[in-house]
Amino acid sequence: MQRHVKKRPNIVLIGFMGTGKTSIGRRISSQLRMRYVDTDEIVERDSRRRISDIFAEDGEPAFRELESEAVRKVSKLHNHVISTGGGVVLKEANMTELKRNGIIFCLTATAEEIYKRVGHQTHRPLLQDPDPLAKIQSMLTERQSYYAKADHMISTTGRSFGEIITHIKRMFRKNIGNPK
Ligand code: S3P
Repeated sequence: MQRHVKKRPNIVLIGFMGTGKTSIGRRISSQLRMRYVDTDEIVERDSRRRISDIFAEDGEPAFRELESEAVRKVSKLHNHVISTGGGVVLKEANMTELKRNGIIFCLTATAEEIYKRVGHQTHRPLLQDPDPLAKIQSMLTERQSYYAKADHMISTTGRSFGEIITHIKRMFRKNIGNPK
């Protein structure tokens, strides 16, 4: 007899760089026994290049094309936790794809908090700026209305991973009609 496994929708994490999508996504995936994928990792794997090299050699629009390809791939999945790059929201088509099988959670943090978490890191091309805090502030303002298209907004400032994960799991269960 064939066993019917219920197809759970994906948990999709969007949000600005440094809001914890990867760390939180990996933990949720193991707790809920869902597989984990990350659009940035898919771009790097498929192109065999680092994101910083793609930006430097071919520019941001080329990266955005590869990112959209990765989004189209992951949007066909079920039962996955999908972590995305911070700029995935900029194209409406990406959001339409991700919403097809997914519930979208946007992780948020203040500009100061993001700066503390990632301001010193060198692998994010968009933050290699003489004044990273000002850059974060202006990008957050520009992107605010895009992030607000998520199904749920989850603040991460001053909250532990455990608290954030409990919140996301609760919202997810409600969304899929299993409030336990
Ligand atoms: C970007 C965020 C990065 C990566 C790329 C561009 C952005 O991902 O996709 O550097 O436009 O915000 P993370 O949010 O995982 O750092």
